[in-house]
Amino acid sequence: MIISAATDYRAAAQSRLPPFLFHYIDGGAYAEHTLRHNVSDLSEIALRQRVLKDMSALDLRTELFGEKLSLPIALAPVGLTGMFARRGEVQAARAATSRGIPFTLSTVSVCPIEEVAPAISRPMWFQLYVLKDRGFMRNALERAQAAGVTTLVFTVDMPTPGARYRDAHSGMSGPNAPLRRMWQAATHPRWAWDVGLHGKPHDLGNVSAYVGKPTGLEDYIGWLGANFDPAISWKDLEWIREFWKGPMVIKGILDPDDARDAVRFGADGIVVSNHGGRQLDGVLSSARAMPAIADAVKGDIKILADSGIRTGLDVVRMLALGADAVLLGRAWIYALATAGEAGVAHLLDLIEKEMRVAMVLTSSRTIADIGPQSLVPRAQL
Ligand SMILES: Cc1cc2nc3c(=O)[nH]c(=O)nc-3n(C[C@H](O)[C@H](O)[C@H](O)COP(=O)(O)O)c2cc1C
Repeated sequence: MIISAATDYRAAAQSRLPPFLFHYIDGGAYAEHTLRHNVSDLSEIALRQRVLKDMSALDLRTELFGEKLSLPIALAPVGLTGMFARRGEVQAARAATSRGIPFTLSTVSVCPIEEVAPAISRPMWFQLYVLKDRGFMRNALERAQAAGVTTLVFTVDMPTPGARYRDAHSGMSGPNAPLRRMWQAATHPRWAWDVGLHGKPHDLGNVSAYVGKPTGLEDYIGWLGANFDPAISWKDLEWIREFWKGPMVIKGILDPDDARDAVRFGADGIVVSNHGGRQLDGVLSSARAMPAIADAVKGDIKILADSGIRTGLDVVRMLALGADAVLLGRAWIYALATAGEAGVAHLLDLIEKEMRVAMVLTSSRTIADIGPQSLVPRAQL
């Protein structure tokens, strides 16, 4: 298959992965309205073309939380990445590092913090869920600190897991799931050889290290389900602050009032996100939520955004709506599942090229130049 655009990786990943894994990545909550709107709302935003402004010297670099980034992008935390490619978290982290951007390790990664951090030459970010087991959270924070993690991404939009109906159909969960997964693995020999056989242990690395025994896919579903904490409130974040002195980013903000609360709390950043449409179906897409949030807190806190970003044009659109930087989610997972580290590095090259064209033709020389003036005014549409 010829990969000429960031979006081609999705089709390539579908043919390579066993269906239960592809649909776990690709799917969203309930009827997947929000998932679809994340992509369509963003892609329908009209960029404002400007010409004849001498755009020969572009600068795509930016700075976030004291770190220099070669692009205004970080890789979003994604659970189970080591099931999509052999030791997938290490491969993706290497690709991000080689392109000068941060990699965010998920709480529920296959590779533990201690495997990923030493494999890369820049500090990584770590994502933490709020879990009932505060001992686990504290242990994870201590290990992240010991491994040199710089930035904590605290995900707050999962006080309870959203129902993902696709998972029951695909064999990720539901009747005879283990049997169905085995059959699917056997009929996808490239994945079975590369990841199924040589990508072991298929553990939840960070969790196993804490509970003291191996944890597999069934444990993942059970442990997480039992551990999400609907009682979470801003108070609990104060508790985290005691154990985490570095920059702290709150991921899963979709409302201007919550964004203001994050500023009051003293967070260093927020991620405007609906978890890629995987939590509450029917909420606003990030693209539609963004302008009101930017109005409320732009300049008071760093605004990151994700959900629906598939191309370099989408990155520029999200920045124009008010984000300081974006997180890529499915875009990098599809690339990783297709071609490992090289796939993620290639995807980042494609995204950078797309951003450059968009910046030249919207007359934006630097990342700071991208703003509301880069979009066609609403009244004109
Ligand atoms: C397969 C998959 C696993 C994910 N796992 C996590 C996770 O462990 N922690 C987290 O904060 N977000 C997780 N997310 C959400 C992403 O960090 C990000 O918010 C989302 O993918 C952005 O939407 P997009 O995929 O449309 O770009 C996951 C998303 C996907 C698709």
